[in-house]
Amino acid sequence: MHAVRLTDVENRVAALDLGSDAFAADLRADLAGVEAVIREGIGTAHGFVIEEALHLFEAGGKRFRPMFTLLAARIGPDPKNPEVAIAAAALETTHLATLYHDDVMDEADTRRGAPSANSRWGNSVAILAGDFLFAKASGYGAELGPRAVGVIAKCFAELVTGQMLELKGPVDSSGQPMDPVQHYLDTIWGKTASLIATCGLLGGLHGGCSQDVAQRLYRIGSAVGMAFQISDDIIDISSAAQQSGKTPGTDLREGVHTLPVLHALRDPGPDGDRLRELLVGPLTDDALVAEAIELLGRSEGMKRAKVTLEQYADDARAELAGLPESEARARFEDLVAFTVARLG
Ligand code: IPE
Ligand code: IPE
Ligand code: MG
Ligand code: MG
Repeated sequence: MHAVRLTDVENRVAALDLGSDAFAADLRADLAGVEAVIREGIGTAHGFVIEEALHLFEAGGKRFRPMFTLLAARIGPDPKNPEVAIAAAALETTHLATLYHDDVMDEADTRRGAPSANSRWGNSVAILAGDFLFAKASGYGAELGPRAVGVIAKCFAELVTGQMLELKGPVDSSGQPMDPVQHYLDTIWGKTASLIATCGLLGGLHGGCSQDVAQRLYRIGSAVGMAFQISDDIIDISSAAQQSGKTPGTDLREGVHTLPVLHALRDPGPDGDRLRELLVGPLTDDALVAEAIELLGRSEGMKRAKVTLEQYADDARAELAGLPESEARARFEDLVAFTVARLG
């Protein structure tokens, strides 16, 4: 099954409304332009790299980050500046690269409804294809100039730090135990929210926004990114996971404790003891994964994670309210609603 692309169906896909026909058609055309930049960029590679590096790009994906970048540019006076498409290509290519590497780290078999690169070609090829895509992203940054290079480099470091935090678990840098929920929030800010925030910042700057507005778009992206990852983590352990194009229960199989799990483990409710027993380490048995998903689905922890998700969505809405009214702002509001509603 293919992951649903945000732009696949008419003007509405899932909960995202792309707005009036004219606005939607324009956004879709700009997104096609970004895709052409990415496809052509990879297409010039050595013959041993093209198929591997294009694999996940062609497999699908929601194109959430380029969409975010294009919308952010529409808040400014110059959304048609050709640099906007280059920035969007840089950010989606960075995202794509992280997917290659993440599937190696998570030993994931499927991505975007297709076999992951590691399951198809092995870890070494998947790592190299990801590296190649990071190199392409740096090239787009160079086209945009030193400011963008700096912004992308900072974000790259934050992404890697987020993945490193996840790997190390809830300890601080001197090895002392830290609050697992705070650790989770730090992790997802790094591995996911920092990139969506950067989409807001670069989209805004290249669309001609002032520094103040671009910083607000960064904060909006940060809040949306937190909500986005929390909803992704909820989807991983909910029945809606079959729709995601990924293997359900991946976090449980890896022993990664996401927000609903952390809350559920603290819950003294009727299933608390059994959950603690099940989730003491990585789960390999399919029946046990299914049992854990079932118990988590009805847990207080799941409800509490949804409350946190709503809080980040509210933060994003509060920041959006500080922008002048426009169709682009309305579409951002829809994007926030989509992030919450994609739980299905
Ligand atoms: C997957 O991101 C990685 C996360 C940060 C959850 P997406 O859910 O945006 O993946 P694609 O791009 O649609 O495949
Ligand atoms: C998402 O990590 C962040 C990335 C750097 C890709 P996850 O491991 O939670 O993402 P999925 O669920 O595999 O997409
Ligand atoms: Mg993963
Ligand atoms: Mg991961």
